[in-house]
Amino acid sequence: MFHTAARCGPRQLASRPFPARRPSVGRVSALPTNRTYAEHFDASDPLARFRDRFVHGDEPLIYLDGNSLGRLPKATQARIAELLAGEWGTGLVRSWERWVGLPSEVGDLIGEHLTGAAPGQLLVCDSTTVNLFKLVNAALDAQPGRRVLITDDDNFPTDRYVLQGIAAQRDCELRMIRTDPDQGLDEETLAAALGPDVAVVSLSHVAYRSGALADMARITGLIKQAGALVLWDLCHSAGAVPVRLDDCGADMAIGCTYKYLNAGPGAPAFLYVRADLQDSLTQPIWGWFGQRDQFAMGQAYDGAWNRALRYRNPADYRHCRCRRRHQAAGGGGH
Ligand SMILES: Cc1ncc(COP(=O)(O)O)c(C=O)c1O
Repeated sequence: MFHTAARCGPRQLASRPFPARRPSVGRVSALPTNRTYAEHFDASDPLARFRDRFVHGDEPLIYLDGNSLGRLPKATQARIAELLAGEWGTGLVRSWERWVGLPSEVGDLIGEHLTGAAPGQLLVCDSTTVNLFKLVNAALDAQPGRRVLITDDDNFPTDRYVLQGIAAQRDCELRMIRTDPDQGLDEETLAAALGPDVAVVSLSHVAYRSGALADMARITGLIKQAGALVLWDLCHSAGAVPVRLDDCGADMAIGCTYKYLNAGPGAPAFLYVRADLQDSLTQPIWGWFGQRDQFAMGQAYDGAWNRALRYRNPADYRHCRCRRRHQAAGGGGH
């Protein structure tokens, strides 16, 4: 079942003099796009008080691109200044101790507040693309008898390209199912594509073009019934709509932090691996940040998923953490 990703539920809209968004199956309904309609929603927006927490330029700009690059939170400016002057400028490598745990520390916050994941499963690291590559390869390695990957033709380009690349590199089959951009993924089409040869199904929770919202719990159940692993792309849902990875039984997920999490250009992405799956998946890239005991500097690799492949500029994590505070205070997408 798919419905459009709406910020207000139908009950809230019922008393309003405008057509309610249909939370039901299928296509994205046509909504008025005029100024009066927008101002009406602005006036009753419970999140409006958070507007002042973000940097607004002098020009009167209506910015509807938070799905691409979120606005800069004012708190981030101060945090970055503090990081540059204090942690890096004077602390130098002594600040390492504070930085090295950030991938899992910030990951746990995103898990707790935005994606319904218990601690120890979500890690902030690398890019969405790289995280997808790592997870799909690891999932294929873990299921040698299954050589088919599934995604849909309306999935974000990087998702389709990464899967195409992996299929070519590993001589696997990529089964591309047809999706109507406005209707969202059709569960019957997906069910018909599933089978005992399928290793991983990789889907977006919110469709990047239409906003069609997938029923994560139902679709996850369908895929797991077929014995395959499911991987959700949360780039357009984390911070924008409720996500319950643990409750839905999701196996793996990826997502970015520069859209609705307002972490800034180039900020690291995140990955999620269900706790009881972590021991069966092996990182395909063996770097020293993935090593269980990084500073033993040992000869043999002994990796774990709760270690980042590589942590990024600590400033990036400061962005993510600032944004998490806004979310925890009740400010979702702005
Ligand atoms: C749904 C989705 N998946 C993946 C990506 C790719 O992310 P990145 O370029 O950070 O790897 C994007 C980028 O906008 C996206 O929207």
